[in-house]
Amino acid sequence: MIDAKEYLKKMSAELDGPIKSYIGNEEPENLMEASRQYPYRGGKRMRPAMAVACCGAVGGDRSKAVPLAVAVEYIHNFTLVHDDLMDGDESRRGMATIHVNYGMPTAVLAGDALFAKAFQIICDLDIPAERMRDALRYVSKAVWDLARGQQMDVNNEGQIVTEEVYLETIKLKTSVLFAAAAAGGALVGGADRKTAEAINEYAIEVGLGFQIFDDYLGIMGNPAKTGKSNCNDIRKGKCTVMVTHTIEALKDDAAKLAEFKSILGKMDATEEECARAKQIMKDAGSIDYAMDMARAKVNRAIETIAFLPESEDKEFMISLANYSIDREL
Ligand code: IPE
Ligand code: IPE
Ligand code: MG
Ligand code: MG
Repeated sequence: MIDAKEYLKKMSAELDGPIKSYIGNEEPENLMEASRQYPYRGGKRMRPAMAVACCGAVGGDRSKAVPLAVAVEYIHNFTLVHDDLMDGDESRRGMATIHVNYGMPTAVLAGDALFAKAFQIICDLDIPAERMRDALRYVSKAVWDLARGQQMDVNNEGQIVTEEVYLETIKLKTSVLFAAAAAGGALVGGADRKTAEAINEYAIEVGLGFQIFDDYLGIMGNPAKTGKSNCNDIRKGKCTVMVTHTIEALKDDAAKLAEFKSILGKMDATEEECARAKQIMKDAGSIDYAMDMARAKVNRAIETIAFLPESEDKEFMISLANYSIDREL
């Protein structure tokens, strides 16, 4: 079986050159510098790797998917720049965030610039016009949905939403971009619409598992490894599936529920208080519940692509699905 982490490293090495080739030395220099920060800083490169693999898995020429892969990574990085500003986070990929280094106006513009560049890069795809239109439909719809999902995420903060609303939020804010990478890659590889749709579905499920696990890392992860604090989500009262489950599980334990709610969303909660909230979630079985849910999504993702012929790319798609819920960062 392919080791997804190692394979991602290998693919990152191939994709890094193209990713770094699109921002030249234009004026103003500070905008160029700010725009380069995240794409050049690295990251797991899961989305671009998925685009390339999905192209190969349908029998396409993998190299043709590279501009699409790069464009999706630029969109991802654009959303991270704005997300960090919105979330008031100070570190990303182990270093200071763009708004911390360059200020809010430049962070907004760097995000916009990366977003625009992504569509310029897509114009470099060497595919027939009809396929280009289909690929653009997936990508532009993804960015639209992502904005809706991010707004829902902001709206949900400090609220207790239902599991259904949580799942819809993460589908929009996270899954759709994985799906655009995957379905877009398949289209570039010559897939028919039905195959592209199945691959889209695979990536939606991977994205759900990925985000459920990301929310787990957000509170249970090791900050030295994830590069982000594991108290912020509790302090901000982020409503994850672990939180919705805890609230439901404690409905007959008024005292504990009150204690949990008194910590959740408390901006100045101490490390000890955050640890206590996490313990309550654990005791309520909410962490296990979330992990089971993430596993079920990934299993469904893998079932969805069972019809693809065996290949190294398909094997990677399977190991990437597993890796999305078994990672340290
Ligand atoms: C982070 O995505 C943003 C989310 C959707 C949770 P990744 O965890 O894929 O970020 P990088 O690119 O590897 O840093
Ligand atoms: C990630 O969302 C950003 C997008 C999905 C666009 P979060 O705010 O939940 O994730 P991190 O913790 O900042 O990576
Ligand atoms: Mg964030
Ligand atoms: Mg956010």
